Amino acid sequence: MTHSDRKTPLEARRSAALSGRVRVPGDKSISHRSLILGALAVGETRISGLLEGEDVLNTAAAMRALGARVERQGEGAWTVHGVGVAGFVSPAKPLDFGNSGTGCRLAMGAVAGSPVTAVFDGDASLRSRPMRRILDPLEQMGARSSDGADGGRLPLTLHGARDPVPIVYRTPVASAQIKSAVLLAGLSAPGVTTVIEKEWSRDHTELMLRHFGAEVSSEPEGPHGRKISLKGQPELKGAAVVVPADPSSAAFPMVAALVVPDSEIVLTDVMTNPLRTGLIKTLREMGGQIDELNTRRDAGEPMAEFRVRASRLRGVEVPAERAPSMIDEYLVLAVAASFAEGTTIMRGLQELRVKESDRLAATADMLRVNGVKVEIDGDDMIVEGRGHVPGGGLVATHMDHRIAMSALMMGLASDLPVKVDDTAFIATSFPDFVPMMQKMGAEFA
Ligand code: S3P
Repeated sequence: MTHSDRKTPLEARRSAALSGRVRVPGDKSISHRSLILGALAVGETRISGLLEGEDVLNTAAAMRALGARVERQGEGAWTVHGVGVAGFVSPAKPLDFGNSGTGCRLAMGAVAGSPVTAVFDGDASLRSRPMRRILDPLEQMGARSSDGADGGRLPLTLHGARDPVPIVYRTPVASAQIKSAVLLAGLSAPGVTTVIEKEWSRDHTELMLRHFGAEVSSEPEGPHGRKISLKGQPELKGAAVVVPADPSSAAFPMVAALVVPDSEIVLTDVMTNPLRTGLIKTLREMGGQIDELNTRRDAGEPMAEFRVRASRLRGVEVPAERAPSMIDEYLVLAVAASFAEGTTIMRGLQELRVKESDRLAATADMLRVNGVKVEIDGDDMIVEGRGHVPGGGLVATHMDHRIAMSALMMGLASDLPVKVDDTAFIATSFPDFVPMMQKMGAEFA
């Protein structure tokens, strides 16, 4: 999916108390995985609550092009009839993943285990992101790549392995995308494929593989790491998947409710997988009033309702080992830190440089143009909170949905309005973001 060159700016203004009860859209990570595993399974997969954002729709289109039957039955309700492990066909046209690193990298893993050839492409943001980290292990397993510009950038052609070999792979960075790509390729290899990561990254692929019938073991490795092993060539069977609300999307109204005076909101069905809740933990340490009202489990993932009340926040230090559990939330945490009293130090943020944009630089710019003192020291970001934010800045979003949403949340409580240059990319992960926030009382113009 491509966007037109015409940008759609928006301004957020200081708003009265936010209130209401909302369910943010389905989790993006789980949505991608449900389509990909559904495509690799035999029989029918029924998905409810699928995120119908552009990133996920691109993955749905890619799975169709690879031979699966993927159908929308109603709002968020989708069925997939898969082709079985190693059963993909070569797509007639390049697979366009738009803005989505997750869709692209997980699909590369899945394709690497089928004897097919596929061209992978994406938008300017995705074309700038590193793919070598995925291609290295997939080539060890027998896949081949060609055409990629330096460092394995898109567009590139991937030739899946005819006889994939199982490997033991130590990931160079804690990345669920690398781990997932290796495990998905390992599905068609005989024997056991193992991934060892220094820090435990989100485990949705492991959980969902089990849910579809694969044998996956997971055990601690070192102080923060994990060793995951998959027994190859399972018969994956289509399954029912319930997609909980995305904690990474809930993060925006959550922070807004904390910083807009007198707010009180309830966020329902939010996934509480502990490998995704680093932001909630951090906001609570800052003094945020976030109550977990009830917890339940549906199709493998836990979820809960959260009541969030406006709070006086104070600066904290966020340790580097927490990064994998809140990697997409540092932008909006930086917004919360700007409204806090005192210094917030966020450590170990090197991975932010290779997301949809260079989020380390973009977050610092977002704060600076709005009068907040911020410093980047190596891989750490240090924000000087002064209890209020002057605002008045124009924020460059760099084709990055999370910069746009974070900056708009800042504007709801800053002294002067905050403007973003483009809201188009919000549709990749949170299509109803603007109307949903307006329903709670957010003022945009
Ligand atoms: C994701 C993993 C993370 C995250 C991304 C979604 C996933 O990327 O930033 O938005 O669904 O596996 P990395 O694994 O590269 O850190």
